[in-house]
Amino acid sequence: MTAKNRQWTTKQDGLDNLELGETNIPEPKDGEVLVKIKAVSLNYRDTEVCQGEYTHHSSLDSGQPLVPCSDMAGEIVASKSPLWKKTGVRVLSTFNQTHLTGQIKESDLASGLGFPLPGVLAQYRVFPDYALVLVPDYLDDAEACTLPIAAVTAWTSINGFRPLGQYLDLTDPQAEDQEKKPPPVLLAQGTGGVSVAALQIAHAAGLATIVTSSSDDKLDRARKDLGASSGINYRTHWEWHEFVLEATEGAGADYILETGGADTLRRSFACVAFGGTIACIGYLSGKGEDGADGGAEGGLNRLNVNVLALRRNVTLKGILNGPRDRFEEMLGFYEKKRIRPVVDKVFGFEEAKDAFKYLAEGAHFGKVVIKVAD
Ligand SMILES: NC(=O)c1ccc[n+]([C@@H]2O[C@H](COP(=O)([O-])OP(=O)(O)OC[C@H]3O[C@@H](n4cnc5c(N)ncnc54)[C@H](OP(=O)(O)O)[C@@H]3O)[C@@H](O)[C@H]2O)c1
Repeated sequence: MTAKNRQWTTKQDGLDNLELGETNIPEPKDGEVLVKIKAVSLNYRDTEVCQGEYTHHSSLDSGQPLVPCSDMAGEIVASKSPLWKKTGVRVLSTFNQTHLTGQIKESDLASGLGFPLPGVLAQYRVFPDYALVLVPDYLDDAEACTLPIAAVTAWTSINGFRPLGQYLDLTDPQAEDQEKKPPPVLLAQGTGGVSVAALQIAHAAGLATIVTSSSDDKLDRARKDLGASSGINYRTHWEWHEFVLEATEGAGADYILETGGADTLRRSFACVAFGGTIACIGYLSGKGEDGADGGAEGGLNRLNVNVLALRRNVTLKGILNGPRDRFEEMLGFYEKKRIRPVVDKVFGFEEAKDAFKYLAEGAHFGKVVIKVAD
């Protein structure tokens, strides 16, 4: 064990101002475990936090400075918890740590890692014993650390209305939905972390998938590597909703994972199937109706419906990640289907700034990872 704990901090004042510093390795108290962090994956939200732009949850304030990032894979090195008696066990963080089951509460947001609580871009961190899940053996640390936000959000978007344990899997001979011919269609927007996880989950579950992207190369990769049924370039085909209707013979998409936000939501409404679900997840094209930034100062009138839906998790299905029990359900599915998360690029711990900038540029396909230790 090194004597000190190296960690990155942000004053939420820009990616260039991230600082690498040292503290003492924290000691677990009763009900806590100390984890040696092996790998951290980045989410779009982490770049927002570091740039002071994560302002749409008006009840949250982090204080500064803050260790960024929420998603890590690591190993238990000390425990004061009866739940985790052994050291050497491989674990994953959960994002809103007190969200254990069912619907998220506003109070759960206060337990979010990497804002408002200190995050995981460090060599060591203490976690409450309830805020960890086991890593499936077949996944390496870089793959596993991609799951807590991106994959759980995709999983919740597809299965959130289903009872726990009865997730959608048309490849299961007992599945009721197997009767549906053609199979339900999932639409993913872009090829970032949430969308790629959604394409993998949906394909493994026997759904048809359509993907949009700004890049023809990424569309090819989604078709070849992830089994996407079809894809459309939203830069060259701005009216991509018409393509979705054509590709589904007018029926539309049954599950739309709305990661685009202000510029995409109306098109999603135009190409959703009757009775379909639009999961309001993200805001890559903006949070405001007419160029407003959608922050606390932007005012309710200017906030896009997509963000209004997600920030209180309302039906038009606003999505705020998912509870621990759903995460564990999803890990069972991943293991059964042997899904390997798509890691686009792995950066070293000292290269964290480059990793954040790489993610912010949007050239990635799937997830960007920072390796913290071997
Ligand atoms: N509510 C939740 O619980 C939750 C959880 C996770 C993420 N999110 C949000 O969901 C969004 C996606 O997150 P992420 O981590 O997957 O991001 P990411 O990995 O950074 O994904 C970025 C990709 O999205 C695509 N994109 C960019 N602008 C777009 C636009 N105008 N329309 C459609 N696609 C666009 C691009 O793909 P191409 O290069 O292929 O064009 C880009 O590479 C973010 O807004 C994030 O904050 C919310």
